[in-house]
Amino acid sequence: MIDSFIFDLDGVIVFTDKYHYQAWKQMADELGVYFDEKINNRLRGVSRMDSLEIILERYEGPALSYERKVELATHKNEIYRELLNKMTPSDVSSEVRETLKKLREKGIKISLGSSSKNARLILEKVDLLDAFDEISDGNNITRSKPDPEVFLKAAEFLHSKPETCAVLEDAISGIEAAKAAGMTAVAIGDAKASEKADYRIDTFSDILKLI
Ligand code: BG6
Ligand code: MG
Repeated sequence: MIDSFIFDLDGVIVFTDKYHYQAWKQMADELGVYFDEKINNRLRGVSRMDSLEIILERYEGPALSYERKVELATHKNEIYRELLNKMTPSDVSSEVRETLKKLREKGIKISLGSSSKNARLILEKVDLLDAFDEISDGNNITRSKPDPEVFLKAAEFLHSKPETCAVLEDAISGIEAAKAAGMTAVAIGDAKASEKADYRIDTFSDILKLI
């Protein structure tokens, strides 16, 4: 019996991948490191610092200190936040808004489960903060997906048992995290390729069929 739904943010509620790409691309170009959309796809669900490490696999210059890496990640985040300023409520589809409302009407508790430290800013920009009972994000975790921490925290915030929680994810690492948390894993988009998904849906409102 599912009484709670936990949603990934990037790629499920909003489509910020293009902004992450543009910001990492600028940082990588400045550093002289090769970066493309394929590498960007590997960064889904991965924390900011872990994403930087993936990008630096192509780095061939002198060793970078931890402080320099923090500086690079901070620079990327500044570019990213500048791009997020472009976001408005029109960046969330009416299908997503209405589905979240219907879940609430059915008495389902709702939390965000995102690796991003910018999650609240994004939800504010698209005017969706009120749609969530709780927010579990990059600010309350130490390990990012596929570790289950972000989803277990969401369940804790909602006072729900993991076995009554369902997670909607577009990243394979997110499906793995949901299963590691003992939750029902619902895949949309690229995550449908994961063998671990319990359900695969084509469009956001399909989650209503699972309740
Ligand atoms: C996830 C994205 O939601 O958040 C990742 O899928 C991103 O690509 C991660 O790296 C961390 O985001 P932020 O906003 O804290 O840099
Ligand atoms: Mg995602």
